[in-house]
Amino acid sequence: MTYECILVETIGKVGLVRLNRPQVLNALNDQLMTELGQALSGFDADDNIGAMVVTGSDKAFAAGADIAAMANYSYMDVYKGEYITRNWETIKSVRKPVIAAVRGFALGGGCELAMMCDFIICADTAKFGQPEIKLGIIPGAGGTQRLPRAVSKAKAMDLCLTGRMMDAAEAERAGLVSRVVPADRCLDEALEAATVIAAYSIPSVMMAKESVNRAFEGPLSEGMLFERRMFHSLFATEDQKEGMAAFVGKRKPEFKNK
Ligand code: HXC
Repeated sequence: MTYECILVETIGKVGLVRLNRPQVLNALNDQLMTELGQALSGFDADDNIGAMVVTGSDKAFAAGADIAAMANYSYMDVYKGEYITRNWETIKSVRKPVIAAVRGFALGGGCELAMMCDFIICADTAKFGQPEIKLGIIPGAGGTQRLPRAVSKAKAMDLCLTGRMMDAAEAERAGLVSRVVPADRCLDEALEAATVIAAYSIPSVMMAKESVNRAFEGPLSEGMLFERRMFHSLFATEDQKEGMAAFVGKRKPEFKNK
């Protein structure tokens, strides 16, 4: 598959997607979001891939949805045609883990895209924000929903209402990112984390992702029940037998379903 707005490569069992519209700081247009969805869905269906990383450039993960492309849309364009938002949720249907490696700006839709990934590893240069209010709009892909769940209502209100940016240290304190590393280590750190994940038994990886997502999306009692059923079902896998036998036998496990 040839893409125009992204660069795609495979590193061992990790699928890497680089957002690639450098002239506009990786502003997210319809084509880029379609291509990103296709690339991630392709990796998801590929048995040789166990995890994915999405990244941008040193200057910008993504500076938001493409403002020039949407500037003249009417209400009917965006409501009926669902331009802007129609292909944004593809990433949420991906069942293998997706890590965002964020350097530079992750603003508006860029911050929302990073939050759609399973976790964010960022550079000390990263800047997060939901500046839509400055454009006379509000976030449209989870900024008012995923952000408060990730960082608290207070911080989300502050960011959505003032439109200010939050640096990497503040993002880590707030719980938006899992790790902050020097900028030149950011992509490698994410690729290494993805490589670690890709070496585990894939059913347990997928069920862990599904179960953690339940904590985000439903009541605690439902999430606990879901987790328990997933936990029970892993006892039907060879990899559970192998993982535990290896621990008891003091050796490294050889997972069959990677
Ligand atoms: C289109 C963009 C863009 C964007 C930057 N550019 N962000 N083009 N859409 N979101 C373009 C600029 O026009 C400029 O093009 C080039 O990229 C470099 O940007 P500069 O502004 O010159 O760079 P700098 O001075 O370093 O400032 C960086 C910045 C600023 C702070 C990130 O570019 C900025 O504020 N961008 C907009 C951020 C934003 O409002 N995002 C939210 C969008 S709404 P030229 O041709 O002049 O070189 C959104 C809704 C999501 O995301 C909805 C989801 C469904």
